[in-house]
Formats: sequence, structure tokens, C-alpha cells
Amino acid sequence: MSTLILTQVNVWLDVVFFTLYPIVLVALGVHFLGNVLTGRAYRRFVKWQWPEHDHAPIKALPKFLHFQHLVCIGLLVLSGLYIRFPFFTGGRPFMRGVHYFAMTVVMVNLIWRLWFAYGSRVRDYREFVVNRRDITTMPQVLMYYVFIKPSKPHLGKYNVMQKSTYILFVPMLIVQALTGLALLEFWKLPVINMTMSDLIVGWWLGPLIGSTSLAVAYARIVHYVINWLFILLVTIHVYLSVSEDFAAFLDFFGLGFLDKRHAQGKAGPAASPGHTPIPAPNALADDVHGATGSDLL
Ligand code: HEM
Ligand code: HEM
Repeated sequence: MSTLILTQVNVWLDVVFFTLYPIVLVALGVHFLGNVLTGRAYRRFVKWQWPEHDHAPIKALPKFLHFQHLVCIGLLVLSGLYIRFPFFTGGRPFMRGVHYFAMTVVMVNLIWRLWFAYGSRVRDYREFVVNRRDITTMPQVLMYYVFIKPSKPHLGKYNVMQKSTYILFVPMLIVQALTGLALLEFWKLPVINMTMSDLIVGWWLGPLIGSTSLAVAYARIVHYVINWLFILLVTIHVYLSVSEDFAAFLDFFGLGFLDKRHAQGKAGPAASPGHTPIPAPNALADDVHGATGSDLL
């Protein structure tokens, strides 16, 4: 593909995503209006009826790693968009520094979280596995979110939509890390005397499509598209985490004392509004169960 066509692709990507994002924001606003009209918002935010959870409290480490991800992805979006569209002058070296710092933390963080999920004594990877019951109950979960059904099946800590999103975050971060590192085309690595671009895309994609710089241009496009996927998915994730289970949100960020039920001493297992409990036959025997088994994306 010629440089001219690549430039056009970049312009189209900007047009598509800068149009799509406001549409998603409006859609979320309309969804919240649905919560108001169906009385869900009143029950939750006024009567303070949030799902009750029968799990042990979430461990501190995943909460801490999640918090770091949240901060770093925020910094990466901000600095990344600045690198592409410098919206004020003179900030380039600083914003690049921010991007390089946050990308390093995110990469270490991801490896740490994957180790926690699979390798630690309290591994929790099974909380995220999409099983057959998740697939068969998916239509009911979707119907709950679009207000056709008053409740959704409650199979475990996360529902099928949450699980799918959380699983998707992993390959997205890995591809983001690889395509990001592939953009480093100027510094030569000691000993092997190659740039990161040569190492990641130059030796295979370069010869296939003509040159390493063209391969880097492709990597930049993928990096930019995933940037927007993060922006879109995290926006929906935040909206649902607040609107579907604000109590779990407070607990997840160490603010559980703000939960009115704690203040009134009423915390404890009870019927969960919006949840239809379904006993899971294949209980997650050796895994940690979090306290905030909310049904948010
Ligand atoms: C996970 C590890 C990541 C690595 C290794 C990485 C690396 C990089 C590098 C090296 C650049 C080029 C910077 C420069 O020109 O000096 C860049 C640009 C950029 N990054 Fe990242 N990044 C990562 C994650 C992210 C994330 C999570 C986002 C957003 C969600 C993001 C968004 C961007 C954007 C929008 C650009 C500008 C691309 C352009 O010029 O068109 N990056 N990244
Ligand atoms: C302002 C930004 C964010 C907010 C307010 C937020 C909120 C939350 C909340 C409240 C939960 C708890 C769910 C529960 O157990 O009930 C959660 C879980 C989760 N979030 Fe976020 N989140 C944010 C950003 C992110 C980002 C950027 C990522 C990924 C890169 C992410 C990935 C996850 C994952 C994988 C989980 C499952 C729990 C775990 O990490 O162990 N979140 N989020």
C-alpha cells in the first residue's frame, strides 16, 4: 500500500472514531434514561438497592493492579493522542516521557496480573472463563441490558459480557505493547545492533510489504485503532460499573465506607435486585471469590 493510501486510511480512522465516540456517549446517556424510566435508577441511587454478593472480599493485589492499569491507560490515551495531535506546543518531550513511563508500568502490570491469575496460590483465572452456561444465558443478559427483562441470570462473580471484555483486554494490551514497541525506529539496541522496529516488524513484515518504514506505518495504524478500542470499551466499562453496581465500585476502590448499607449496618447477603441466582454446578473450587460480584461490564 502506498504512503498516500496509508495517509487516507489514517484520515478515515480519525473520521470514524471521532464520530463514533460521541455516538457511544449519547447511547450511554439514552441507556441511563432507560434506567430512569424503568425505575432502576430510583431503586439503585435513591433507595440504595444494589446487588448483594456472596463472595469473599476481593484480594488487595488485583485491586492495586487494576488501579495502576486505570491510571496508566488514562495517561497512555492522553499522551498517545498528544503525540498524534499535539494539542498544545512544547509538550512533546514531556508527553513522550509520560507515554514511555506508563507503557513500562502497564507491561509489568500485565505480566504481574497474568501471574496472579494463573500462577499464584490464589489464582483466579477461572472467574474469567466463558463456559457453556454463560453462552446459553447470554441472550437473557443482553435482554436485561436493553430493558426487555427485569433481571439477568447470576452464575458467578462476572457475567458473560464482563468476562468477554476482561478477556479481550489481554490480547489488546499485548498487541498494543508489540505495535507500540515497533514504533521505536531510532534507537539501536546494544549487542544486537537492531532497532525495536527491526526486531518486531522489520525482519518479516518489512520484506513482505517493501520496507521497514512501511511496516512501522502499519504498526502505527493498529496501535491507533486499539487506542480507540480502549477508549470505547473503558468508557462503557466505567459507565456500567457506576450505573449497575455503584456499591461494588466503591468497594473496589477502597471506598466501601461510603456505602450507605455499611453505615446503617445492613450489609449482608440478601436478594439482589436485578439478579436471578442460578446455582453453578461446577463451583470454582480452588479459586478466590471476590466480594464485588457485580454485573457490570
Ligand atoms: C502497552 C504498551 C505500549 C507501548 C509499548 C506503547 C508505545 C508507544 C510508542 C513507542 C509510541 C510512539 C511514541 C513516539 O513517537 O515517541 C506510541 C504512540 C502512541 N500510543 Fe502507545 N504504547 C503502549 C500503549 C498504549 C495505549 C494503552 C494507548 C491507548 C490506549 C496508546 C496510544 C498511543 C497513541 C494514540 C500513539 C500515537 C500514535 C500515532 O502517532 O499515530 N499506547 N506508543
Ligand atoms: C476509570 C476507569 C475504570 C473504572 C472506574 C473501573 C471500574 C472497575 C470496577 C468497579 C471493577 C470491579 C468489578 C467487580 O469485581 O465487581 C472493575 C474490574 C475490572 N476492570 Fe476496571 N475500571 C476502570 C478501568 C479499567 C481499565 C483501563 C481496564 C483494563 C485495561 C480495566 C479492566 C478491568 C478488569 C480486567 C476487571 C476485573 C477485575 C480484576 O482486575 O481483577 N478496568 N473495574
